[in-house]
Parts: sequence; C-alpha cells; structure tokens
Amino acid sequence: AQTVTRDGEGVLTVGGIDVKRLAEEFGTPAYVLDESDFRARARAWRTAFGQDADVFYAGKAFLSRAVVRWLHEEGLNLDVCSGGELATALSAGMPVDRIAFHGNNKSPAEIERAVRAGVGRIVLDSFQEIARVAHIAQELGRRQRVQIRVTVGVEAHTHEFIATAHEDQKFGIPLAGGQAAEAVRRALQLDGLELIGIHSHIGSQIFDMSGFEVAAHRVVGLLKDIRDEHGVELPEIDLGGGLGIAYTSDDDPREPHEIAKALTEIVTRECESARLRTPRISVEPGRAIVGPTAFTLYEVGTIKPLDGLRTYVSVDGGMSDNIRTALYDAEYSVALVSRSSDAEPMLARVVGKHCESGDIVVKDAFLPADLAPGDLIAVPATGAYCRSMASNYNHVLRPPVVAVRDGEARVIVRRETEDDLLRLDVG
Ligand code: LLP
Repeated sequence: AQTVTRDGEGVLTVGGIDVKRLAEEFGTPAYVLDESDFRARARAWRTAFGQDADVFYAGKAFLSRAVVRWLHEEGLNLDVCSGGELATALSAGMPVDRIAFHGNNKSPAEIERAVRAGVGRIVLDSFQEIARVAHIAQELGRRQRVQIRVTVGVEAHTHEFIATAHEDQKFGIPLAGGQAAEAVRRALQLDGLELIGIHSHIGSQIFDMSGFEVAAHRVVGLLKDIRDEHGVELPEIDLGGGLGIAYTSDDDPREPHEIAKALTEIVTRECESARLRTPRISVEPGRAIVGPTAFTLYEVGTIKPLDGLRTYVSVDGGMSDNIRTALYDAEYSVALVSRSSDAEPMLARVVGKHCESGDIVVKDAFLPADLAPGDLIAVPATGAYCRSMASNYNHVLRPPVVAVRDGEARVIVRRETEDDLLRLDVG
C-alpha cells in the first residue's frame, strides 16, 4: 500500500511528493509518514478481525493527534499507557470508551483521571493495582471495566528487553502458582470493578505464531478455571500486540488477515475443547500498523573512509531520533534517495552527530561509493518506536513528522526549536 516510487532521475517520491522537495520544505532529519499507507494498514487490521473482535492500536509505537483522528475514522480503538498518551487521545476526540489504559505503575492520579473520564477498560497489572483501582472507582461511585494482565510463561523469540511473558520481568501477574487465579478471585469480590477479561502480551517483533498459541491455551485454561470456581464466563480475551514487521529484506511478516485467522482459530479451538463460549478477542498492534509507514530522511554530512574497515557516513540526526539500533541491536537498511548512482557499492556505517561512539543508525549497509555531503538518504521502517522514543540528547532538536498523502505534505508533529528546549530551563 505504500506509495513510494522513484522518478526518472532516481529521486524517491512518496505520496506523490519527491524527497528533495520534502527536504527543502521541511528540513532534515524528518520522519516522513505515508498517511494512505497508515490508514490502509489500520483498515486491514480492522477488516481482518471483523465485528466480533476489537483492534486497539498501541499508542506507544507512535502517537499524535492526527494519528488519533485517523484511528478513530478507521474504526480502531486505542491503547494508552500513561497520562500523557491518555491526554493526547482525549484531546483529539477519541471516544473514551474505545480507550484501554495500560501500565505497570499507573499513578493514583492517572487512575483517577482515567476512571473519571470513563475509559473503556483498565488493564490491571498487580495485586496492589487491583485494590487501588477498585478503591478509586468506588470513591467516585463508578464500576470500572477491567482486564487482568497475566504472564503465561512463554519465551518469545525476540530481544530480551522487549519480551514480556516470561516470569522474571515487571509486567503482569503470573499464572504460575495460582497467582492469576487469586487475582481474579479478588477482582470479582470488589464492587468498584467489573472484570471483563484476561490480557496477555508476550513481547514484540515476533514472527512465530507458536507463542500466541501457548498463550491462548493457557489463558483459556484460566477462563475455564474461573468458570469452574465462580460460575462466570469472562466475555473477553486480549492477546496483546507484538507482530513483527520487515526492517530488512530478511524479515517475512504475516498479513493481518493471516494473523486474525490464526488467532481466532486458536482461541475458538481452545474454547471448544474447554466447553467455553468463545470470548470476544482483542489485539493491540502498534509496530505492525505504523512501523512500515514512515522513513527517516537524513542529509549526509561528513564521510570518513577508514582503510580496510568501512566508511563512516554521518547524518544530521542519530540516536536521538532512532535509539533502537543502540538499544536493541536493531537492524535497518538505508538507501540513497536524492539521485541515482551507478558507482560501486561501499561498505558503510550510518552514524549520527552525537558525542558517543554507539550512536549508530545503520550498522552495516552498502551505499554507492560516490556518496557525497548533501545527498539525501532514507532509513525505512522507522514509523514505530523512533519518534516516540526520541530524546534531546546533546540538545539535538527532535525532528518533525511530515504526513504525505495524494501529493500533499503536512506537518503533524512539528520540529522542535531551541525555544522549546530553553523553555524548560528555570533561572
Ligand atoms: N500491548 C502491550 C500491552 C504492549 O506492552 C505493547 C508493546 C504493545 C501492545 C504493542 O506492541 P507492538 O505491536 O508494537 O510490538 N520499544 C520497543 C518495543 C516495546 C514494546 C512495548 N510494548 C522497540 O522499539 O522495539
């Protein structure tokens, strides 16, 4: 669905606009986001899951008011995990009952705000939080719809920092040792809570469906125990997000309809064998929707060939706009996009402008040997967890997000200014 092509001179165009024009008008670095592609992916998830399921876009991947409006228009729901994300969602008019509130350490103030606003569900992450949310809801005279997040003990095959269903980490309540069953017992007793389901998120950038299979099996096992013990069949099950995207040509992601089919079949089968009514399924894709829809456009600065090693190509951004390479050893590709070149490929490392040798954007990449300062290069698949994890390290200004669609470009998050930076300094 991405509308990226090359014109006769080899200049990349996206949504009908060429990158040289984008660089002139908006400057570099910039995240360039293809709005039609975003909408198409959101719609594909929505359609794949149909009316009997809900798709919650995970706002942590990238959130802005424009994104909230697109999601609303395309019929998706939204998962937020902080007061800031909730504020963004509400300020852009997302219906509050379509918002899910996550997090392992929601503050009492955040909980109160979410309950008062009337969020569709709060996902409870600990025993303390079960009591806290129940108390706050009761004080406000509300009955808050909640899910309990459990850890199913699956080892997802992904980077340690983004795997979340094994037991030794901070999220959720373990199924092991009857802890999740105890959490359910407590939640069912509390007047301030309406327990609507069980939640499981096994990790991120996952390609293999077997982790979801095990998770669904174990969550359905818990639903069955709940039915047997309390005589209640919880109506919902959330399988989280985590579906992988192609960062390089080695990755082979699944289409939303394949994922929907696989997850629905797994849950239905497990419920049939447990003689349970099939609950309503929800999922929370973030990366799979926004990740592929944007690239980062950089201008090449200093080029430093190191004999016998590689050529260091410095760009005007770096780890402040994409921390993923440094943090997770993530792999990206890169291409020259402001012209074509017949020059020999050279082994390059794309690095940023920060005062740190780990400031690497693309570790190993081939770029044409005639690359020169002023050329534009693009790093694809930076829509997820790049702008949302961007920092001001070295007082570098965070880049804008420019949305392109049908030959028009508009800024949806503006570039930071030095005034923005200085505004926070007191005295
Ligand atoms: N639901 C829950 C409860 C989550 O914790 C997450 C991600 C998602 C959904 C969305 O996962 P996705 O579909 O986007 O993989 N910063 C890391 C990823 C951290 C993900 C945290 N939770 C990265 O850049 O890879």
